[in-house]
Amino acid sequence: MKKFQSVRGMKDILPNESRFFRNLENVLISAANQFGFKEIKTPILEDTNLFIKSIGDGTDIIEKEMYTFVDAKNNSFSMRPEGTASCARALVEHGLNDSINKVWYSGPFFRHERPQKGRYRQFHQFGAEFIGVESYEADVEMISLINFIWKSLDVDPVLKINTIGDIQDRKKYILVLLDYFSKYKHDFNEAEKNKLKVNPLRLLDSKNKNINEIIAQAPKITDHISMESKLHFDSILSILDKKNIKYEQDDKLVRGLDYYNRTVFEYIDKNHESQNTICAGGRYDFLFENLCDKNIPALGFAIGIERLLEYMNYNLESEKSNIFYIAVMNEDNYLYSQNIANIIRKISKNYIVSNSYSYVNLKAQLKKANKLSADYCVIIGDEECSNNTCQIKNMDSGYQDAVDLDNIETYLKSNIDDGN
Ligand code: HAM
Repeated sequence: MKKFQSVRGMKDILPNESRFFRNLENVLISAANQFGFKEIKTPILEDTNLFIKSIGDGTDIIEKEMYTFVDAKNNSFSMRPEGTASCARALVEHGLNDSINKVWYSGPFFRHERPQKGRYRQFHQFGAEFIGVESYEADVEMISLINFIWKSLDVDPVLKINTIGDIQDRKKYILVLLDYFSKYKHDFNEAEKNKLKVNPLRLLDSKNKNINEIIAQAPKITDHISMESKLHFDSILSILDKKNIKYEQDDKLVRGLDYYNRTVFEYIDKNHESQNTICAGGRYDFLFENLCDKNIPALGFAIGIERLLEYMNYNLESEKSNIFYIAVMNEDNYLYSQNIANIIRKISKNYIVSNSYSYVNLKAQLKKANKLSADYCVIIGDEECSNNTCQIKNMDSGYQDAVDLDNIETYLKSNIDDGN
């Protein structure tokens, strides 16, 4: 019989891994909430044109990475490859784009890339978008939020930051680049020749060592941007300095999505050469113009959850919980045991309770409790059932107490630290 497997590049996240996803997500959500961001949930599928218009048709995502299908009515839909375009679409559609808005999202995204460690076809992002503030303080706020997250997680990836100017600056700079790179056309491979034709900016972040030197000598975007863009960027850097936030200015950083302008940044894991961008973002003051003819400044970032977990070696403290296993000696005690399980669950949300459904001997049930890493085994036999008690056994010390159901809350609270 054919054995089904998950689709290439799309992995199952099993319970021993999913708890890290959940714990990490809780940290990210709590930080975003503390900075005044609110959750937005948008559909997985969007009109394909939304992504083409936002991300840009010369980008890798649009050229070859989207999962796209045409429905029975000939409409083309794509599975979201990123979250910014969907957020902008939703805010415009619901008339929420005229005021300041701060939103976060978390969920799966899809790109048909060649799978490898840190690069998946279904991956998860936690992102935040800040709409409606043009001044540099918004950029600083986003970077402060990300740094607050790194501090909560006790990690310290390297911030690389650059400015790519405004659309007009970029148009002029692309002509300068085109002129420069055309001289080296014969040194480029086919993909690079194509980039030169479609989007010469993308040559700047090429990983091909053979053209390292050509890129190093390329004209710098910082020499081709307007005074306003330069001032905006200098103000950000000056505040980062004052706030003691470390960064590396990288004038080759351009990002792979066309909607960006002015500030772009990435957080890098310096210990790895590939797939080492853990978080990335920037300004996109011209995206809304494409969607609703209005000039609305905005910026945002997204963290790759898989990459962050791998970067942290899954070293994440989980909420303290206590596991109880209820051992029942006899089927007649079943309802009584269910009742006790519910009483314990109500005492603390950090008490995790599983019931036994095989009324085998106590030794076998204690073995099962150990297998489930239970901290306590609650033992229920006929005697406990008839006198409204239970035995609570500490699986570490082996110490066991008979506890009256009326006193169980007091008993548990005085004997167990539930982290609250
Ligand atoms: P992005 O750089 O395309 O930006 O993706 C953000 C992060 O998602 C990356 O830095 C990486 O950690 C993770 N990521 C991307 N592709 C994959 C993949 N195939 N497998 C695993 N992880 C991946 C954006 O998506 C922008 N929407 C970010 C943004 C928000 N800019 C402004 N607002």
